[in-house]
Amino acid sequence: MNYQWYPGHMTKAKRMMQENISLIDLVIELVDARIPISSRNPDIDELGKNKSRLILLNKSDLADERANRLWLDHFKAKGYHVIEVNARSGKGLHAIGGAVKEACREKLERDRKRGIRNRPVRAIVVGIPNVGKSTFINSFAGRACTKTGNKPGVTKGKQWIRMNKDLELLDTPGILWPKLESEEVGRNLAFIGSMNDDILQLTELAAELIAFLLKHYRQQLADRYRMETPDDPETPLTVLTHICEDRKCYKKGQEADYEKAAAIVLDDFRSGRIGRITLELPDGSL
Ligand code: G4P
Repeated sequence: MNYQWYPGHMTKAKRMMQENISLIDLVIELVDARIPISSRNPDIDELGKNKSRLILLNKSDLADERANRLWLDHFKAKGYHVIEVNARSGKGLHAIGGAVKEACREKLERDRKRGIRNRPVRAIVVGIPNVGKSTFINSFAGRACTKTGNKPGVTKGKQWIRMNKDLELLDTPGILWPKLESEEVGRNLAFIGSMNDDILQLTELAAELIAFLLKHYRQQLADRYRMETPDDPETPLTVLTHICEDRKCYKKGQEADYEKAAAIVLDDFRSGRIGRITLELPDGSL
């Protein structure tokens, strides 16, 4: 399958990031907890060098709890500050204040030594499309905060959201481009819906997802689609056929409508209805 990300968008996104990153102290990077590697672009390490770093493992409600813990350990071991969150419900966001202080400890210490007091940490939220950046900014900012507008010293046009006396957030998130370095990364992004579905072969994609689920989350798949014999040697095709029967997906003349069944599986997976599923693990065992 051909997974694409347009070069023009990449250049624009990169330029915007370069411009904005120079204004800030802290990069808050969102990754999708179901695919924490495929959903991040490691170029952010170069772009954000010399900045404090905080990774948010977002959509953790959709990912396997055990895998979330492994990913937290993985990123911590690599020296990042990291928290597990659900930007939609707000779960985990209370821990951010403490994590920001921790991540910016050196800067705060430097400021203190130079006699600079009460200068808030300035942060930018970054991540690939659809990872939850806007949702996060809205939930985190809530209603309590105010936009600070074009204060002196703030680049014209940039809006800072004042979270509290210690933290200001740039209101426009930075978009990172996915790094499509392998077929697997493209597929993972397509599974979670971060690719344009219009240019994908959805039946093939759903079949690949089912193959993964049969291998690693068989019981959840069987439960969702009322497959009574989860131990039988099912194949993606038999599962899709079963879904066609179970959900009455037929074209005219009682022909099985595999495309419709494929759309159901992908939609169910993306919205967590098959269960909490992680598609990649730090040790590469998935
Ligand atoms: P972006 O700015 O990074 O492009 O992402 P955005 O906030 O638009 O979020 C993309 C989708 O992901 C939204 O769903 C949003 O609600 C959902 N989302 C964000 N964070 C979480 C999370 O922690 N858990 C879950 N389960 N979902 C999350 P949508 O279907 O596009 O919109 P809507 O149905 O919420 O209106």
